[in-house]
Amino acid sequence: MIASTNSTDRDRTPDQILGPYFPVGCTPAKKDDMTTIEGVDGVAQGEIIEITGRILNRHGVPVHGAGLTIWQANTFGRYAHSNDSNPAPLDPNFVGCVDIRSDDDGTYRIKTVKPGAYPAGPDWMRPPHIHFEIHGQFERLITQMYFPDEPLNACDRLLNAALRPDLLVATPVPLGNRPHHRVLNFDIVLARG
Ligand SMILES: [Fe+2]
Repeated sequence: MIASTNSTDRDRTPDQILGPYFPVGCTPAKKDDMTTIEGVDGVAQGEIIEITGRILNRHGVPVHGAGLTIWQANTFGRYAHSNDSNPAPLDPNFVGCVDIRSDDDGTYRIKTVKPGAYPAGPDWMRPPHIHFEIHGQFERLITQMYFPDEPLNACDRLLNAALRPDLLVATPVPLGNRPHHRVLNFDIVLARG
């Protein structure tokens, strides 16, 4: 009998470029909350959101202990990075990067603010997105998560260059008894884990 791909296998999350704002020398946020900075009074500006999801391999097996570096622009579309020449304001209460690990069932969770769109060229506005670098047990994946129902998604060159752009768009989670901020789910599938 010829072995075939199991129909329940998942598609690997597409790669996206690392981009020019990878946090070098950034002090990551405390734990999984990017909306406050340790030792600084105040809260980041913008819409507070929660991103949650699981790191899985293609067979749906959770990848526990995966390292995630997550970085993003602030609500105004500005990175706290020396390469960013966008004149949009910095937010003194927002560093915009965090290092976390997936737990035993592959779950990760962050609290942050929704990033703003920003210009990437004279005729290109990048839609709101969050960068992810994932170190699994066997591989490294660099990708970007996008928000549902964003008009700029339709013409973003990076999102639409992916083989499956739909796999890069997070899914709203019904609030239920959750906090009063928006929760989005973004599962990340590695080939081997
Ligand atoms: Fe970016």
